[in-house]
Amino acid sequence: MASIVLFLFQNFMMKLLIRVYLRSSAANILRTMKLFEPITLNATRLSNRIVLPAMVTRLSGEDGHINKDITDRYLRYAKGEVGLIVVEAMAVHTAKSGPLLRLGSDDYLAEHRELAAKIHATSPSKVMPQIIHFLKISRNGWRQTVDMLSLEEIDAIVEAYGAAAARARAAGYDGVELHMAHAYTLSSFLSRRNPRKDDYGQTLENRLRLPLRVIEAVRKNVGKDFCVGLRFDGEECVKGGYTANEARVMALAFARAGIDYISVSAGGKFEDAVPKEGQPLYPYTGYSGDRCMPSAHYPDGFNRPISAEIKRYLVANSVTTPVLSAGKINTPELAEHILQTGEADLIGMARPLLADPDWPKKVKNGEWDKVIRCCYANVCKSLDENFRKVRCFLWPKGALQAPESSDREPPAWPKDGAALNADWKQGKIRLNWQSASDNEQVYGYDVYRREGYGGNFVRLTAVPGGLSTFFDEQAVSGCRYEYYVRAYDIAGNRSESSNVVAVSP
Ligand SMILES: Cc1cc2nc3c(=O)[nH]c(=O)nc-3n(C[C@H](O)[C@H](O)[C@H](O)COP(=O)(O)O)c2cc1C
Repeated sequence: MASIVLFLFQNFMMKLLIRVYLRSSAANILRTMKLFEPITLNATRLSNRIVLPAMVTRLSGEDGHINKDITDRYLRYAKGEVGLIVVEAMAVHTAKSGPLLRLGSDDYLAEHRELAAKIHATSPSKVMPQIIHFLKISRNGWRQTVDMLSLEEIDAIVEAYGAAAARARAAGYDGVELHMAHAYTLSSFLSRRNPRKDDYGQTLENRLRLPLRVIEAVRKNVGKDFCVGLRFDGEECVKGGYTANEARVMALAFARAGIDYISVSAGGKFEDAVPKEGQPLYPYTGYSGDRCMPSAHYPDGFNRPISAEIKRYLVANSVTTPVLSAGKINTPELAEHILQTGEADLIGMARPLLADPDWPKKVKNGEWDKVIRCCYANVCKSLDENFRKVRCFLWPKGALQAPESSDREPPAWPKDGAALNADWKQGKIRLNWQSASDNEQVYGYDVYRREGYGGNFVRLTAVPGGLSTFFDEQAVSGCRYEYYVRAYDIAGNRSESSNVVAVSP
């Protein structure tokens, strides 16, 4: 009992301290927040702990070349001063796969060199490509599995990873990340559902064989002083799949093999993907897909316990390899808490940085209240699924990149206010308000809610600027709810809060 009370007290004090950090001046924030402490990964020094984990953009053609849209997308993250930008998964081989970047031949080298140089010229952000191998898949439902690969084909995978990593170094990137997560080849070897019956399947030792061969080949090609990171699933999130119990042992093996950071993801498997007539299977449609990119109805930081267990196990084995935690980590408070408690060393934010690439710069400057906040509607995910250009649905209509503005004038409500009203109909609460105006453009509205008769208001979601209605489908009769909304503009300036409305369904 005493230890529970002590734990609760320590947790409370930690949260209190972080709140104090966030309310202090920008200079103070810089001095005290671990999020903005540099970290060194092999020879690469990151200026902060914020990482953009790889995020496919579907902005390239099927030829896999870097174009202006791709360059603009990554320069935008650099302008926001993201510590480490991991460029979306790019193939080490030549198999067809819709719009996907490539690093499988020297033909791509010059354009990658240009991208890396442009990012370096923009800000202190560091940049590394994520390199991937995937198996064949067809629209008729057939897919190649790891047991169909011959030993020669396995050797070719090792060689392709080694060659692509050497190109990453030649291109001037700050390192390379090996994709061993989700539904792809190396992850399928690591899987507990790996069906091979030879030296590459059945036991954990055998399942690790190919990934460790790949690490060895990559290291041999890039040298000792080049950062080699790795991303893998800390839990497969499918029936019979592995959990953190095995993942922590894998992480230790990766670290001992010389990996410089371990990025922990979850799920995203073919095994529970939902088939769609005439479409290749998309590995993020089942429960494991939810766990990989948790949507609005999952708690924040849902996959934290997995990366925390991996970190704990590494520390217990005297291994200091940095660990990255990702999955619905969106607030500076949560990110800081994870770092301060030693759960992880790096914070991955994919969708939050898509919504607002200036997240790091704004938070560093003490302007958290100007961040455009992801609402995890997963429109980006469904664009990826359909091979359409990935964008954020909060961006202005038709925009292909996150907008930029240094305006400081906040939106204003009409003279008679927001006139926020609410009613309960057919099991949901409908909120309605008057549109705000702005010298540039009203970009969106944050909706805040408080349940019951006390406690804090919590930001529930964001609504794009063209709308002035929101339906809360998570309300139940017998409870009391209060709401207010705030308009924001492109720069993230927030309006005054609207009037507060209360509803008791
Ligand atoms: C559109 C989209 C594309 C993604 N592409 C990749 C990818 O190429 N490689 C990868 O390891 N993860 C990929 N992910 C997963 C993200 O890196 C990240 O782990 C996941 O979105 C959870 O983090 P978040 O809650 O900060 O978004 C993608 C996610 C999204 C939404």
